[in-house]
Amino acid sequence: MASDRWSSRLGFLLATTGAAVGLGNIWRFSAVLGANGGGAYLVPYLLAAFSLAVPMLVLELAVGRTLRSDVVSAFRSVDTAYTALGWLVVGGVLLILSYYLVLTGWVFGFLLSWLGGSGTTFATFTEGWLPVGYFVVATVVTGAVVARGVRGGIERMSKIVMPTVFVLLVALAGYAVTFSGWGRAVEFLFTPDLSVLTDPALWSAAFGQVFFSLSVGQGIMLTYGSYTDEETDLLRSSLVITVSDISAALLAGLVIFPIVFSFGLQPTLGTELAFTTLPTAFASMGFGRVVAVAFFGLLFFAALSSSVSLLEVGVAAATNTTRLGRTRATYLLTAGVFLVGVPSALSYSPLDLTVVGTPVLDLVDESVGTYALPLSAICIALVFGWAADLAPVRAELGRLYPVVRYVVPPVLALVTAAKAAGVARPAWRLLLD
Ligand code: PHE
Ligand code: NA
Repeated sequence: MASDRWSSRLGFLLATTGAAVGLGNIWRFSAVLGANGGGAYLVPYLLAAFSLAVPMLVLELAVGRTLRSDVVSAFRSVDTAYTALGWLVVGGVLLILSYYLVLTGWVFGFLLSWLGGSGTTFATFTEGWLPVGYFVVATVVTGAVVARGVRGGIERMSKIVMPTVFVLLVALAGYAVTFSGWGRAVEFLFTPDLSVLTDPALWSAAFGQVFFSLSVGQGIMLTYGSYTDEETDLLRSSLVITVSDISAALLAGLVIFPIVFSFGLQPTLGTELAFTTLPTAFASMGFGRVVAVAFFGLLFFAALSSSVSLLEVGVAAATNTTRLGRTRATYLLTAGVFLVGVPSALSYSPLDLTVVGTPVLDLVDESVGTYALPLSAICIALVFGWAADLAPVRAELGRLYPVVRYVVPPVLALVTAAKAAGVARPAWRLLLD
């Protein structure tokens, strides 16, 4: 509904930050940083965030607010020839959602296992059908929030969930200060070994991670921007979102790496970090169960607010382009996303569903991370930076407008080509090795 609006600026900021802060910050950031040798990674990361992602954030928010429409209607309003492209972007987002919900389900399962007892390990967890059950739970919860609408669902949830995420992150990092590995962790995070900066894989990994982490270039911010008022300063908002997202990632690093170094674990470990290695450490540290519940609880909240934003992109497009109301559209899309996600869920179950030897979840993630994400971002930059000529968007971007037109598309094309050529490892791949 075009009449949907955030009730306040704070609500808008919490919802957009909720979309951005997710599994990507807490566990993917640490994994990618660990695999890329620590602090040096922050150089391309920060550069990409402020020079490329911020302009794209402003672009998306401004397009959403100017056109007051969902992704598909926005593409169509530029030229009906682009309608299909709009649907492709929405399809990519829903594909991300289909496996993101599987991961969200795992997190929920781990949360429950620590709430109810002494936790679990990934191997034990995926021996049974529970991961599939938790995938259902994550899907239903996400659908229930979106069905309640922009204010009553998304905004209301964000106002509870996002402050909780940050409070828990700060509290956990505060506890981590007392660990013997704190000093080494800080050094690992903030002392860049600048010699690795000549490695193109580092740059490619960092640029990919920034766009993933900020949820930018996927039409999510366009959709959320369409619910904001004319007075909101979009550049300032974009900076708030970016700084919050980076802070969440760094805070998570200040929780994870002290544990890693205090317990003699490997910082380069991927998925194992969150689901196997950290749980081992939780089991043997003081207040370990409390720490585990806080960790998986905040991870679940962060994941949920991102899942919700992904689903909203589809629901907004469906309600604006068909006769479906929000409730019906949400039910239909949730069911569809669930079906698409089933093979991903089954790839870490007793069935061990694989295609050419790779778990389906990894395969979907790999194709999304390598192609769908950057290609969507390139489409948005080209269609709204070149094909459309929207005066309010140009005004909002100011000096950032040329960045969106001349810098973002070629840089992303380069990063995509590098990934396709196997220079860098895409998306969750790292975690699931
Ligand atoms: N930004 C979210 C995260 O950090 C995930 C996400 C990626 C959401 C891409 C939408 C699009 O986990
Ligand atoms: Na993020």
